[in-house]
Amino acid sequence: MTKCILATGGAGYIGSHTTVELLRAGHSVVILDNFENSARDALASIPKIAGGGKIWLAEGDVRNARLVADVIQRHSVDAVIHFAGKKAVGESVADPLLYYHDNITGALSVLSAMRGTGCKRLVFSSSATVYGDVKMLPIPETAPTCSSNPYGRTKLMIEEIIDDFVASTDDFGALSLRYFNPVGAHPSGFIGESPIGTPNNLFPFIAQTAAGMRDMVQIFGNDYETRDGTGSRDYIHVVDLARGHVAAVEHLLSQTTNILPHRKVNLGTGKGHTVLEVLNTFSKVCGFQIPHRIVPRRPGDVGLSLADPSLAFGLFNWRAELGLDEMCRDHWRFQAATNEPRGRRRTRLGAEARWANRVWEDFESLGIAEGRNALA
Ligand code: NAD
Ligand code: UFG
Repeated sequence: MTKCILATGGAGYIGSHTTVELLRAGHSVVILDNFENSARDALASIPKIAGGGKIWLAEGDVRNARLVADVIQRHSVDAVIHFAGKKAVGESVADPLLYYHDNITGALSVLSAMRGTGCKRLVFSSSATVYGDVKMLPIPETAPTCSSNPYGRTKLMIEEIIDDFVASTDDFGALSLRYFNPVGAHPSGFIGESPIGTPNNLFPFIAQTAAGMRDMVQIFGNDYETRDGTGSRDYIHVVDLARGHVAAVEHLLSQTTNILPHRKVNLGTGKGHTVLEVLNTFSKVCGFQIPHRIVPRRPGDVGLSLADPSLAFGLFNWRAELGLDEMCRDHWRFQAATNEPRGRRRTRLGAEARWANRVWEDFESLGIAEGRNALA
């Protein structure tokens, strides 16, 4: 079953890993991205890591519904995975209108383009943040939802918008995937997450401290009701997460009934790890102790978050396979590669960099910048 998938935000952290796994599964991918939080260079590695495949790039803004519809039609897109959007909780508190405007408009644009073109399968990037400080552990999809910040509320609102749209549209299937804590990088070391500025999240902060870019890791609280008192999360390797998207989209595409529900599905491992466990594993992988100290709790943090991942297994036969060792190993490998002197890295990237230039030279002037992978 070879299908064409549109990945909005496909150049970003989760989108780029998912594109690799879609190509590996034999699908073709169109990435629509405006590169506001990603780099064109990262795309160059994708066909190499995936071992070939058909991939196209449309540079533009997902809030432009005409552009989204044009891309869907031009490539006869079978399904859309909507990753594009803003994701920083702190920024959303400081500038809520930006988040409501960008994230909601982006989702409305995708849905109206899909309605206009008859493309009827959608996977949406939601988040475990929709569960707020729920006390039910592990958290099933039926747990009450509530979010304490504008970013999380955009995810809840978009899930509700999709509910209404699915209810009003025959044969439209949608899955909202609620990610727990995505971490790690592709084992090749070529793609991963490079946060701009000081990272808020634990893994990138540890990685930058290990790389000597930060003095020490601050552990936010050691008085939670967890194994060692430090906060515990359900971390999921980004490659597992990417494979979850492939399973989800293939499940949607295999559905033939007229009335399809909009399912919300957790993507997590069902296993929790504390901050100290992550630090110790990361230190083991690097081969030296990463400096850290205990500081007071971070305001707004929950002590424990853990997915019940059984629905994903029941619905589309997916479960996470990679453990904390692989998450730390691959995250560190990407961080170490990012820190390499530019010359050495450029040599190693060789073929990928040339591919990238070719794509950009080949762009047609269509009002939108669009390129075709010459390797296809
Ligand atoms: P990311 O920022 O790395 O990727 C998002 C991509 O979307 C970027 O390439 C960015 O340039 C692009 N983009 C943003 N606004 C756009 C616009 N208006 N038009 C076109 N492209 C646009 O983020 P990510 O970590 O890959 O997250 C992907 C999705 O998953 C987001 O919706 C995010 O909210 C959600 N999510 C992420 C996490 C996480 O921890 N990373 C957790 C839960 C949910
Ligand atoms: N932590 C530290 N020190 C740090 C950073 C984090 O001790 O420098 C701790 C936190 O207190 C928490 C754990 O490490 O116990 C994980 O923190 P992250 O910031 O990595 O992840 P969160 O679970 O707090 O937040 C993530 C996403 C949010 C999303 C939330 C709920 O970053 O966008 O999950 O799904 F809203």
